[in-house]
Amino acid sequence: MNLATQIEQYLPRQLLELVKDISEQAAEQEQRVYLVGGVVRDMFLGYPNFDLDLVVEGDALKLAQQVAEASHAKLLTHHRFGTAKLRYRDFTLDMATARKETYAKPGALPTVTPSTLNDDLIRRDFSINAMAVSLTPNDYGELIDPHQGKSDLEHRLIRILHPRSFCDDATRILRAVRYEQRLGFGIEPRTAQLLKRDIPMLDTISGDRIRHELELIFKEKLPELAIKRLDNLGVLSKISLSLKGDGWIAEKFDRARRLKKPHQLPMLYFCLLIYSFSENEIEQFLTRLNTSATLSRAMRDTLHLKTSLPLLDKPAMKPSEIYYLLREYEPLAVQANAIATESPIVHQHLQLFLTKLRYVRTSLNGGDLKRLGIPVGPEIGQVLHALHKAKLDGEVKTRAGEKKLVRSLKNTWHTC
Ligand code: CTP
Repeated sequence: MNLATQIEQYLPRQLLELVKDISEQAAEQEQRVYLVGGVVRDMFLGYPNFDLDLVVEGDALKLAQQVAEASHAKLLTHHRFGTAKLRYRDFTLDMATARKETYAKPGALPTVTPSTLNDDLIRRDFSINAMAVSLTPNDYGELIDPHQGKSDLEHRLIRILHPRSFCDDATRILRAVRYEQRLGFGIEPRTAQLLKRDIPMLDTISGDRIRHELELIFKEKLPELAIKRLDNLGVLSKISLSLKGDGWIAEKFDRARRLKKPHQLPMLYFCLLIYSFSENEIEQFLTRLNTSATLSRAMRDTLHLKTSLPLLDKPAMKPSEIYYLLREYEPLAVQANAIATESPIVHQHLQLFLTKLRYVRTSLNGGDLKRLGIPVGPEIGQVLHALHKAKLDGEVKTRAGEKKLVRSLKNTWHTC
C-alpha cells in the first residue's frame, strides 16, 4: 500500500518539505528513513499529530546533525540511545537509529543495539503503534505493517505484539488503557488476559515511570475514563490500594477542566485523585511515585486544608479571616478543595481567596511608612499588617485612605 498522497495531504507544507529534504539527504548516504509510531496511526485515523518520529536504518545522529545544520534547528542528542531531537519554532522532530531492545529483567530500561526497521517495530507496544512509512525516494510512501496495525485500527483494537510485552514493560498496561479510552477502542481479548495476568509486574516499574504514565493520562481530554477503566481492571489498586476511579472523580475532573487551563490540569487532577486519602496513604503514594517537591506539597496541602474546611463553613466571615486561614496553602490545594467541597459557603470563601484576596496588596510600603514617621523596627511590620488587614476587609481603598489610617495608628500609639 502506498501512502504518498495521504502524506502530502496530512502534513503541513513546512513539515512535508523538511521530511523530503531529510529523505534526500539520507538517500545520498544510502541510509533508509521511515516515519513511525503515533503519526502513522493518527494519519490513518485523520487526527492531527505533528510530533514526527523518524527511524533511520543507519546513523540517525549523523543524519540529524546534517539536517539540523541545513534547516537551522536546535539539536539535542542522546548518544547512549542513538536518538536526536530537532527543535523548530512550531514543532519538534525525533530521529532514532533503528534498534533492537533486550530487557535484562522485567521493568528495567532496555539494552539497545542498532538494528533493522523490523527489529525496531517488534520492540514496540501495540500493533497500531508499530507501523512505518518509507521516506526513501525509491519507495516513498510505502506502508510497512508487519503486525497488522492497519487491520487492528479498522477493527478498533489495542493488541500487543508478543506475550511477554507487559512483562518486559508494565507501563504498557497504563498505555493500553490510555489509547483504548482515547480512541474508543477495545483491548483485544488475548491482550486483555495478559494485561490482567501481568498487573503484578507494575511493582517492577520505578515511581518516575508510573508517574509519567499517569501524567500522560492526565493530558488526555477525558482522563477520568482511563482512571475508571484502570480501577475496574484492578490496576489502580496495584499503584495504591486507596485509589478510586468512581463517579466522584469523574464529576470533579470535569469541574476542574471548566476552571483551569490545560497545562495546569495534571497537578490538579493529582490533588483530586488523592482527596480521600489518609495521612499515611498519601505519604506511601508520594514515595511510590517519587513525586517532585512541588507536587508533593500541593497534595499534602490539599489534605491538610481539607481537615480545616469546617473553619470556613460560616456565613459572614471577614475577608481577612478567610485570608489568614488560607494564605499558607498552595493555591492549587485551595483550588482542589474548592472543587471537592460540597458546601457552597466553603466553596465561595475558597474562590474569593483564589480570585481576589490573595492578590490584595497595600499601596504604601516600608519606605513610605518611614517617611510618615513610623520608627524603624517592629512597628513598621505591625502597621503594614494593619493596613493589609484593613484593605482586605474593604476598610481602606485608596493610598490616601491608607495614609489616614497610618496617622490614626500613630496617634493611638502616642496617646498610649
Ligand atoms: N513505545 C513503546 N513502548 C513504550 C513507549 C513507547 O513501544 N512504553 C513506542 C510506540 O511505538 C510509540 C512510540 O514509542 O508509538 C512513541 O512513543 P510516544 O511518543 O509515547 O507515543 P506516540 O505513539 O507518539 O503517541 P501519543 O503521543 O499519541 O501517545
